[in-house]
Amino acid sequence: MMNKILPGLCLIQALVVALWAESCSEPPQVPNSVWNIDTSNGTKVTYRCTKGQLFGEQTLFCNASRQWHASPPVCKEACGKPRPIEHAKLQYPADEISVHAVGAKVHYACSLGYYATSGLTESICRHDFTWSDPALVCAPPSSHCMKPRVENGEITSEGKERYSAEDTVTFQCSAGFQLEGSPYVTCTENGGWKPELPKCMKYTTSNMKEFLYHGKKLEDLKPRLELYKLSLEIQKLELEIKQKQEA
Ligand SMILES: *[C@@H]1O[C@H](CO)[C@@H](O)[C@H](O)[C@H]1NC(C)=O
Ligand SMILES: *[C@@H]1O[C@H](CO)[C@@H](O)[C@H](O)[C@H]1NC(C)=O
Repeated sequence: MMNKILPGLCLIQALVVALWAESCSEPPQVPNSVWNIDTSNGTKVTYRCTKGQLFGEQTLFCNASRQWHASPPVCKEACGKPRPIEHAKLQYPADEISVHAVGAKVHYACSLGYYATSGLTESICRHDFTWSDPALVCAPPSSHCMKPRVENGEITSEGKERYSAEDTVTFQCSAGFQLEGSPYVTCTENGGWKPELPKCMKYTTSNMKEFLYHGKKLEDLKPRLELYKLSLEIQKLELEIKQKQEA
């Protein structure tokens, strides 16, 4: 009888020892959490918080020296690190803190050479331990110019929603309107147009003299035109005097 049972008992004992040799101590207790053990490929324990948010390693592996590979995580009613935003950085001291209380605010600033095109620079730790989305967009200043718009005018060059620096746009006014300013504008590095956008003025006989003549107002040219007229009159008189002397 004993001879029959003993080999079986020994086998079970050997199995238990073999299993024990491969495993770590009980998984460490983490307040406000539940854990799950998985022995399909080595032994690993995965924690899930029942209250708050998990900080640290979510899964601990039982390593070759039969120790859990890292310290157990903690469950805290707090937010973790705010999410990174492209071309922006968190401002001190938020950049050095990894656990933030509910209601805490952090501030972002666009990196040097970039500027905020939309969104907020502030984010707040909400009651669900997530950060409000600042939706901040930091763009390099030379990125683009928005499509220029001139009332009663249209673009005669290639029409696009965004233009790159050095792109040139040409305008034409609608029928009955006259262009004032430069018909060509160029997109600059800082996202503006140079020179300033032209205007399309309603064409009437009363405002005719206001229109530009080779980039100058006719009114401003008047003294020069009068001087020219005077010089022509002097020439005419000189000619008449000459003709009389010859006669
Ligand atoms: C078992 O775990 C090791 C280390 O964690 C990993 O490299 C390996 O790919 C895993 N094997 C399978 C079959 O999942
Ligand atoms: C197992 O984990 C412990 C705790 O992190 C560590 O000190 C030890 O060096 C690890 N052993 C191996 C073989 O990686």
